[in-house]
Amino acid sequence: MASGTESWILMATGRTPTNIAVIKYWGKRDEALILPVNDSISVTLDPDHLSATTTVAVSPTFDRDRMWLNGEEIPLSGDRFQSCLREIRKLADDVVDEKKGIRIRKDDWQKLHVHISSYNNFPTAAGLASSAAGLACFVFTLAKLMNVKEDYGKLSSIARQGSGSACRSMYGGFVKWTMGRDAWGSDSIAVQLASESHWNDLVIIIAVVSSKQKETSSTTGMRDSVETSPLLQHRAQTVVPGRILQMEEAIRSRDFASFARLTCADSNQFHAVCLDTSPPIFYMNDTSHRIISLVERWNRSDGTPQVAYTFDAGPNAVLIAPNRKSAGLLLQRLLFCFPPPADDELTSYVIGDKSILHEAG
Ligand code: DP6
Repeated sequence: MASGTESWILMATGRTPTNIAVIKYWGKRDEALILPVNDSISVTLDPDHLSATTTVAVSPTFDRDRMWLNGEEIPLSGDRFQSCLREIRKLADDVVDEKKGIRIRKDDWQKLHVHISSYNNFPTAAGLASSAAGLACFVFTLAKLMNVKEDYGKLSSIARQGSGSACRSMYGGFVKWTMGRDAWGSDSIAVQLASESHWNDLVIIIAVVSSKQKETSSTTGMRDSVETSPLLQHRAQTVVPGRILQMEEAIRSRDFASFARLTCADSNQFHAVCLDTSPPIFYMNDTSHRIISLVERWNRSDGTPQVAYTFDAGPNAVLIAPNRKSAGLLLQRLLFCFPPPADDELTSYVIGDKSILHEAG
């Protein structure tokens, strides 16, 4: 490896937001390659909020690959990180930094070790899709450091092998993960359906019901569902294909009523699959159920949906309002039904125009 000095260090930093599925991914047909049983659609959050920031450093003085998550070292031995690292190394290209006198040839990347440091600005593993942001950012930043020239579709298929939902965080706006047909996953990639600016009056409010680590990880939960839930097969084969088409149309035409109806129905069916799993999985709690009732009552009394709700593998509610006016009304209702404890300051973060993070219950 040609370099000016043997103590150099080269770094790249990336930031990737999390995404929230409105048509859920739940179930794999191939565990190792992370190939799903159905297509899914998500909305990527604003990068200023709920994102992972990752720095990857490379130096000839590093004797092994190492990783830190939120400042604590974690083992990098897991297959998932290793397969992403291996795939990116295969695609790595020459890197020249004239100023630092560094020249790395593409074959050198096989021998060079990396140090990775990643931070989430939101609770890890609390059903806020932290693995999606983390793995997508890991792949994106490694690719940047190693001068990988592949398009985002290819990078999404690598991120997918880290965590399925991560592939959708490769793009902003509305994103579809096509399940693909082939056995090795080359066509199981994410595609952007519409950019960030397409429907930018939507407001996303996340009611953090609990920021505790979830008891059943998505990976374990969906494995159990695939093995035991008859409803999962029905959902994947009969229900989701139609919903995907309807959701694409709702997004294309910015039809909030259809978007909300499909989003809520799909969240409820996903949690029905969890209940249909043996042993049953309970991701939502009483507070989650009360939030659903609040939204359902409001939507019904108005005749037309004012808000959509969706819950991932945890009790936290992701609420989507069509505009700031509805979002304001929603916050008022949330604060009325879930007042902050009198002796405690309300933990409520207004994060930019698009998302507001609020502690409920
Ligand atoms: C409920 O992507 O975390 O959030 O592929 O095993 O890492 P692995 O699972 P993961 O599952 C996400 C499930 C979900 C729905 C979704 O994001 O589509």
